[in-house]
Amino acid sequence: MTGLGGARAVARCDALGVSPYSDMADGLYRAYLTPAYTAAQEKIAGWMEAAGMAAYRDAAANLVGRYEGSDPGAPALVIGSHLDSVRDGGRYDGPLGIMLGIECVAALHAQGRRMPFAIEIYAFGDEEGSRFPAAMLTSRAVAGTLEVSALDMADAEGVTLEQALSSVCGGGIAEYLTAAREPGSIEAYLEAHIEQGPVLEADGLAVGTVTGIAAQLRYAVTVKGMAGHAGTTAMRLRRDPLAGAAAMVLAVEQIARGDNSDVVATVGVIEAMPGAPNVIPGAVHFTIDVRSGKEERRDCVAEAILARLSEIAEARDLEISVERVHDLPASPCDADLMDLMDEALIGAGQPVRRLVSGAGHDAMNMAVLCPTAMLFIRCKGGVSHNPAEHVEPEDVEIALQVMLGFIERLGTRAGDRNAA
Ligand code: GLV
Ligand code: MN
Ligand code: MN
Repeated sequence: MTGLGGARAVARCDALGVSPYSDMADGLYRAYLTPAYTAAQEKIAGWMEAAGMAAYRDAAANLVGRYEGSDPGAPALVIGSHLDSVRDGGRYDGPLGIMLGIECVAALHAQGRRMPFAIEIYAFGDEEGSRFPAAMLTSRAVAGTLEVSALDMADAEGVTLEQALSSVCGGGIAEYLTAAREPGSIEAYLEAHIEQGPVLEADGLAVGTVTGIAAQLRYAVTVKGMAGHAGTTAMRLRRDPLAGAAAMVLAVEQIARGDNSDVVATVGVIEAMPGAPNVIPGAVHFTIDVRSGKEERRDCVAEAILARLSEIAEARDLEISVERVHDLPASPCDADLMDLMDEALIGAGQPVRRLVSGAGHDAMNMAVLCPTAMLFIRCKGGVSHNPAEHVEPEDVEIALQVMLGFIERLGTRAGDRNAA
């Protein structure tokens, strides 16, 4: 069965890139628990059912499709990725991995085949963290690494996670953690994703085996000064937190750059309060995202950044508070599964290429629960988190064949183990 699945996976991502599956008019923004999110879930549930799966929404509002295996009690293979997007993002970062999972099952279903294990497709909810001030809550819930205290939060409009959740599933925060899967109930986790970087394109390759994912840290920073009249407050009397934050943003860039390592640090959100042309702001909120393949390097740079921010605040007579809202260690992919992926690449006539992921993925959380594998797919210019994101259907078809080869090999491995 080769040919159409890759193109259909791309076409489905395109179909989900517009209203009513987007929360913005001219582009794609699909945030966790919004009307666009639930509309997309309904559409995808139909595709799951057409591929022979039973679909349901779990307590964290993930959409899950299950295709039974020949042994219903055997640990399942989970194939997952995320349904949410960044604001004005691309169509493939996240959904493509879900669509490819559905295509894998559709191909097996069309042949009337069952693997020794069930296959479950997870469409995760908030990998990007673009609505609430936390990210990957839903895969953390599934991995069982979340605490209920981490769920007390609201979006920029003041809607709490509890309110948003109950409007979608009727359930609340108290049930959220019941989305957790039992350790031992999952054979492996597989995630296919666009590379979001230029390596595969530069090497002329359609796909590659991921070796691991860089460690992430995110902070929410508030700087407070003194709000005042823009026309009457002399410059020397000001305590302007936005001017202070500007110096801080430059410090973040300088310190990360000066480390001359793989550390990257980004200020992606900044907001001045109250936000008027004739008012010196009274407070500024901004985020900092710091990553590296090595936790120690990431932490060392993050500490240097926070120390410098305090110095800037002190020199300008500003108050600063910093909250760590996200902290994920580096997550290596499983060595045996990487070998299976390499074999599947060879089986699909592709050269073997291994590469690391600077972007975060739900696989980071699933790694706590089970061995994980990831497959990267070439994307044009390495561009992502941008509406210009583009992937070729031919490359996605190759990814599908590699995933099917991987599933086949995983099935043989499980069969051999059961026979032994
Ligand atoms: C998700 O795209 C992330 O890496 O932040
Ligand atoms: Mn992303
Ligand atoms: Mn993604």
